[in-house]
Amino acid sequence: MNELRLACVVGARPNFMKMAPLLRALEKHRHVRTTLIHTGQHYDASLSDVFFEELGMRHPDVCLDVGSGKHGAQTARVLERMEEVLQSRRDGSRFDRLVVVGDVNSTMAASLAAVKLGIPVAHVEAGLRSNDRSMPEEINRLVTDAVSDLLFVSEPAGLENLRREGHVEKQLHLVGNVMIDTLRWLLPKAKARDTLRRFGLEPGRYGVVTLHRPGNVDEPKTLSGLIDVLVDASRKLPLVFPVHPRTKQRLERFDLAAKLAAARSILQIPPLGYLDFLALSSQARVVITDSGGLQEESTALGIPCLTARPNTERPVTVEEGTSTLVGSDPRELRRRLSEVLDGRYKEGRCPALWDGRAAERIAAVLANHSDADAVLPGAETPRREEAAAYL
Ligand code: UD1
Repeated sequence: MNELRLACVVGARPNFMKMAPLLRALEKHRHVRTTLIHTGQHYDASLSDVFFEELGMRHPDVCLDVGSGKHGAQTARVLERMEEVLQSRRDGSRFDRLVVVGDVNSTMAASLAAVKLGIPVAHVEAGLRSNDRSMPEEINRLVTDAVSDLLFVSEPAGLENLRREGHVEKQLHLVGNVMIDTLRWLLPKAKARDTLRRFGLEPGRYGVVTLHRPGNVDEPKTLSGLIDVLVDASRKLPLVFPVHPRTKQRLERFDLAAKLAAARSILQIPPLGYLDFLALSSQARVVITDSGGLQEESTALGIPCLTARPNTERPVTVEEGTSTLVGSDPRELRRRLSEVLDGRYKEGRCPALWDGRAAERIAAVLANHSDADAVLPGAETPRREEAAAYL
């Protein structure tokens, strides 16, 4: 078989646990060569390095060092630097394909750079839609899917969304959830750690909180309301809250840090590595979050998840799993929390194909996919005007 050269891109924290199992699965196909490119969207050790270490991922072959910035600036830096990298293979050969995961700015920008050079793009975690274009991730998902010709989907709603947007069947693969591959692989190791003891917590007797979405933390009024909700909830159950750098900045800027610090049953800690965080989330009584990935992880773990968002692009976590959307309404959160504490909360079940083998399925498709199978974005798509209307 001819060598297949894949450029694999990561940029921000939630990308790492999705790419790690995929790289491992691709290594088993001997004709596949991967080049790992880190855009540097996340650069702090606690948001990046620790994940490479714990997930057993090799060092990136290329780092773009784009860093933080406004959306336009950050996206533009990735686009410009990716274009250079994709054009500059030392032996003059081209990459056969770009592989991206998730929905962060790096995902979208890298995809655009590739498709403009005629390099086909595979998107892992395609088709998710919150239908809320005020979320930066929703724009990233729409653009990435529109320029990708291979779409790997984690839940049935994703297939429906992509069909509605004009993608054809041979582009679509329902494969399960690569993030859950990593969870299943590392759960025993995480549970064996002394994380709970270090934080003075007992299994099943605390809640885990994460908040970082711009929609929740960038407006003083919204963030203040959510902090009130947490303070209220902490009277019933101690909470541990690893604080994302963005949230930390906003708490300080809006003079809310002191209010949070005054709540004795809320333990604020810096962002954790993968294993410590999984140790906490897997043994919690409840998770309160606005993270997409954590909604999925809680569902796979069977832990109740009160999602502080008005909508979700991952409906299976609500319809089949353990998540409930509570928005930023204190009454709704209080009501659902009581259900959890009184043992009245729904059980939930793990969605089909979230079995730890999604990356194997994706690698098999990628490894056996030839140019002859390629569907160029837009071309051959019977409803391409319709697809364009979505952008
Ligand atoms: C990004 C993703 C989001 C994902 C989240 C996980 C986008 C649009 N958003 O959000 O989907 O859920 O990552 O964490 O891509 N910062 C640091 N150190 C870092 C990186 C960032 O302190 O290593 C601070 C900077 O002040 C930066 C802010 O965090 O401005 C936000 O970082 P950014 O990458 O823009 O978005 P996230 O909020 O992390």
